[in-house]
Amino acid sequence: MTVPVSKKLNSLSFAKMKEQGKKITMLTAYDFASASAVAATDIDIILVGDSLGMVLLGYEGTLQVTMEDMISHSAAVRRGAPNKFILTDMPYMSYHLSNRESRINAARLIKEGQADAVKLEGGSASRLQAIHEIVDMEIPVCAHLGLTPQSVLRFGGYKVQGKTDVAHEEILLQASAIEEAGAFMLVLEGIPEILGKKISESVSIPTIGIGAGRYCDGQVLVYHDMLGYSNIRPKFVKQYAQLNEEIPKAIMQYSQDVREGRFPQTEHCYYPISETE
Ligand code: KIV
Repeated sequence: MTVPVSKKLNSLSFAKMKEQGKKITMLTAYDFASASAVAATDIDIILVGDSLGMVLLGYEGTLQVTMEDMISHSAAVRRGAPNKFILTDMPYMSYHLSNRESRINAARLIKEGQADAVKLEGGSASRLQAIHEIVDMEIPVCAHLGLTPQSVLRFGGYKVQGKTDVAHEEILLQASAIEEAGAFMLVLEGIPEILGKKISESVSIPTIGIGAGRYCDGQVLVYHDMLGYSNIRPKFVKQYAQLNEEIPKAIMQYSQDVREGRFPQTEHCYYPISETE
């Protein structure tokens, strides 16, 4: 399959895409290998999500992920995808303590992690202030509402948000406050489809959904989930491959080949001894 070579997008490209009714595609990548794979496609945005804590590092959630983790993975993704727009998550506690820390940590993700923009979760007054502070440093910010995984302890689990009238209204209000605070994009996760639709219609910044229905301006999935390369399969995931089945099969084949003398063959040897010697 040939991939059309596209120009590197910037933080203004996505508002234009929304205006033109072009859907935005986003996929996570966490390392050089996954980033190189995504770089060979026409995906618009790579998200270096703090979901790497669960998918790569084996934590139960994202709360343990550190700035050092995010910087190191973001920089590896940049090496694998030099021409993609990279959005990197601010991990838990990197924007919760003070405006100064929010500014420093966002700037580190840009300078050291080589991201093009940062993402943070929530729409409370202090989060709006953090968005404002970071945008004031000329760094594009994507916000994230709904089932925000860094709020899992307060939510009492990974539960769909915005189901009651009050919660629905609150998220709707937060979405417009986020736009006013200067965010260039908004991720909506784990909310009823009707709320995803209303928010997408009421803000002019693009919305990117994950479990937020069909009417968002774009969609995001976790690399490992869509490739069937993880053991979790939430309702909103469509699997495009089943690597979790393919990979153990290939590994078993390799170990049998070694045990039974089928690997390596002469084509795998440097200067193989010829049959006649
Ligand atoms: O960390 C992540 O992968 C995310 C997506 C689920 C939106 O924030």
